[in-house]
Amino acid sequence: MRPYSAVKKMLHSFRLSLRFVLPLATAIALLAYLTVPLVDQLALRWFVRDLDIRSHLITSTLQDTLIELLEQGNKSKINHLFLRSIQDERLFSLGYCNDEGVLLYSTPAFPKSLGCKMPTSALNDPKSMIRLPQGPVHVAINPLEQSGVKIGSLVLVHDMSFVERRSSDSRKYVIILFAVLGVVASIITVFVAYLSRRGWIEGVRAMIRGEGILHPFSQPANPELQPLAGDLRALLRSLDAERRFADNSTISWTPDKLRSLLHKELTGDQVIVVSNREPYMHIRGEKGIEISRPASGLVTAVEPVMRACSGTWIAHGSGTADKEVVDKHGRVGVPPDHPEYTLRRIWLTGEEENGYYYGFANEGMWPLCHIAHVRPVFRTNDWEQYVLINQRFADAVVKEAHSDDPVVLVQDYHFALLPTMLRNVLPKATVITFWHIPWPNPESFGICPWREELLRGMLGSTILGFHTRFHCKNFLETVDRYLETRIEHESSTISHGGMLTLVESYPISIQWPSPWQQIQPSVTECREEIRHALSLAENCLIGLGVDRMDYTKGILERLSAVKRLLELHPEMIGRFTFIQIAAPSRSALEEYQAFDVRVHAVVTRINERFSKGSYQAICLKAEHHEPEEINRYYRAADVCMVTSLHDGMNLVAKEYVAARDDERGVLLLSQFTGAAHELHEALIVNPYHVEQTADALYRGLTMPDFEQQERMRSMRTLVSDFNVYRWAGRMLIDAARIREREKLAMRIGRPL
Ligand code: G6P
Repeated sequence: MRPYSAVKKMLHSFRLSLRFVLPLATAIALLAYLTVPLVDQLALRWFVRDLDIRSHLITSTLQDTLIELLEQGNKSKINHLFLRSIQDERLFSLGYCNDEGVLLYSTPAFPKSLGCKMPTSALNDPKSMIRLPQGPVHVAINPLEQSGVKIGSLVLVHDMSFVERRSSDSRKYVIILFAVLGVVASIITVFVAYLSRRGWIEGVRAMIRGEGILHPFSQPANPELQPLAGDLRALLRSLDAERRFADNSTISWTPDKLRSLLHKELTGDQVIVVSNREPYMHIRGEKGIEISRPASGLVTAVEPVMRACSGTWIAHGSGTADKEVVDKHGRVGVPPDHPEYTLRRIWLTGEEENGYYYGFANEGMWPLCHIAHVRPVFRTNDWEQYVLINQRFADAVVKEAHSDDPVVLVQDYHFALLPTMLRNVLPKATVITFWHIPWPNPESFGICPWREELLRGMLGSTILGFHTRFHCKNFLETVDRYLETRIEHESSTISHGGMLTLVESYPISIQWPSPWQQIQPSVTECREEIRHALSLAENCLIGLGVDRMDYTKGILERLSAVKRLLELHPEMIGRFTFIQIAAPSRSALEEYQAFDVRVHAVVTRINERFSKGSYQAICLKAEHHEPEEINRYYRAADVCMVTSLHDGMNLVAKEYVAARDDERGVLLLSQFTGAAHELHEALIVNPYHVEQTADALYRGLTMPDFEQQERMRSMRTLVSDFNVYRWAGRMLIDAARIREREKLAMRIGRPL
């Protein structure tokens, strides 16, 4: 440190210390001011008492001789005795008064004004001084007794000028004492303040450097700063969140932006996506091999990201003609007509698919994570297949990786074990796991027999993403309940086995602008086309539901609301048709088969009750539709109903909004979806409440144009800003930061 800056720092510390010193000096001066008169008073009292005692002593010494001389009437001897007695430097003069109070003998300096009576001032306060023209004196009038009879009194006058001298001396010393005390106390205060300020500053700096913050589990340098550490961390986190928000909100996210981020922030590192569902399926159809896009929110979101980033997508090859189009490594370029990235297919036997996909993932994990009142089923055999297939996919990632530190995006509940399996082989990989479905509370999750294994597997991730903060909180609490880890809630990180996992919310979204925007017919044309295809009346209002045939989607509740609407508003019969698109899903499972049967039965019942001629209240289309076709339905629908009983995000809601470039149409949205946290202008409903949902449906169908426009415009702004490129971008930015930190930590040999 340069001497100049050291002096400056000292001066600064001194200036700061003056804040303590000035009040201290004032307090000491005040104390001195009050103490000095008190000391004076005390000293005076001591002296008066001394002189009283002294006077008594002199009186008793002289008494016998004086009485004898008085009896003899020996005047000269009495004067001699008196003169000898006042040789004492303090005794100023002596006098003798007879019992009638007449002064008979006195030394020459005896004050004339005094006589034989005590002055009034001394009578009031016997301890006070008497001020005579000669100066302050002490007067004592002591009786002389002979055989118990008073024969007169001896008046002793002591000089007290020494008292004033001493009092001024002691005042001086007291003031000096207080001054010295003040200076010493100030020096000590300045010194202690300087030292503790330095200690505090060092401590706070250490915390800001991350000692005790970035290392969430180490103690801050100063234990007394411990209570501050939490606040400081919270502050840093909120600043970081604000900065992230500012960063993100100023960027307009496009595929180009995402690409350049990948090259700049991740220096072009390879991106590998792992999911169970593949983005394109090759199906053997009547006209040869056809391409099909599966109904999956995951695929809808991740595919545009992958097109922007290139790289490799590893997924289960489940199409009937998948094997026919791949190379010998199971790879094929996609999208099929203009390949932009590689799809690497993994093959599963029927037994493996039954155990890992149908069994553990969809009979166990799916109902476990959704509150939809379907009981999860866990079988050891399914678990074993799940472990086996997770390992197979992990091995495929290792094989596809060009370096030892790829960015791997692991998707969903099919691969809870894969992150740790991967990290064991590629410790430097950045593993971003995204959980597309809700995360339950610890009690619900606790029923899974392999809960610890699943959690440990997931904690191999660098980043673990959920749609909402609520799901993150549930996850942190679950880990807290079942694993020995350290959780830092302020930074939302979990430390385990020497590594850190960031648990963060990244609400997923869709491609914006919609890929169909340029090529779709107008809204009016789409409406006419659909009315025509389904033989609906010309002015028929259209309600729409688009889902997989899944019990979590609230399809039965939605149908009940439609029925209730028609009961409450019979004028809608013949004027309103509800179209339910339900893509077949997981149909090998009994629960799904039973659900499909129930939906069909309910539709039949409602249609039977309300049908009029060719009019059908509900049009159930339980078959697969390609995304482009669904987009036309969105454009045609007056109301879109999303009534999931529990849903991570639900991208149908966002797709409907994106499809409505005419700024019309009403979205009915379940409060139990992640989307309800973002799309506040939708009509939010509780799907379990049939009347409420029916009312909302009626309100949607009769909503004035301007209100539709206001609501739709606002939702479109949100979806366009918070599109899927931002979702991926935010995760990649966070991953890049963590990667930088990891690299730095390795270079300087310091743990993260
Ligand atoms: C949900 C899951 C996805 C899954 C999709 C379709 O959205 O989060 O992982 O791909 O359902 O389900 P399926 O079983 O047909 O892939």
